[in-house]
Amino acid sequence: LYMVEAVIRPEKLDEVKDALDEAGYPGMTVIDVKGRGRQRGIVHRYRDEEYRIDLLDKVLIMIAVPSEEDVEKVIDIICEHARTGKPGDGKIFVLPVEKVVRVRTGETDEEAVQ
Ligand SMILES: Nc1ncnc2c1ncn2[C@@H]1O[C@H](COP(=O)(O)OP(=O)(O)OP(=O)(O)O)[C@@H](O)[C@H]1O
Ligand SMILES: [Mg+2]
Repeated sequence: LYMVEAVIRPEKLDEVKDALDEAGYPGMTVIDVKGRGRQRGIVHRYRDEEYRIDLLDKVLIMIAVPSEEDVEKVIDIICEHARTGKPGDGKIFVLPVEKVVRVRTGETDEEAVQ
């Protein structure tokens, strides 16, 4: 069991969500977040003045999946659909998950995750 956590551009959420759903991953948690990568945000110029917005709006998508194979599939889908080719397209983190429980039925782990 793994949790795939992807930080992506908010405007890419719908496309990524639809692609994951079509590939058999309908369940997800989505959180509005702020973040920065190695560019430390973005520098804007206004009337010859430079100012930095150092935390940009992003979306965090969390998807729990049963296997490593699913992790690779989900990563491929997210990369394909969230990419613009410019800095700030996002980053994906994969974490181990110890337990999953479906509240309605009490099912656990592989039976509960999808
Ligand atoms: N090391 C990190 N730890 C936690 N979150 C991160 C890290 N790097 C990036 N993020 C998150 O991912 C978001 C997108 O990062 P971003 O795509 O700018 O990564 P990057 O490493 O700067 O790559 P790029 O050069 O393509 O912009 C950030 O806004 C932040 O929320
Ligand atoms: Mg960046």
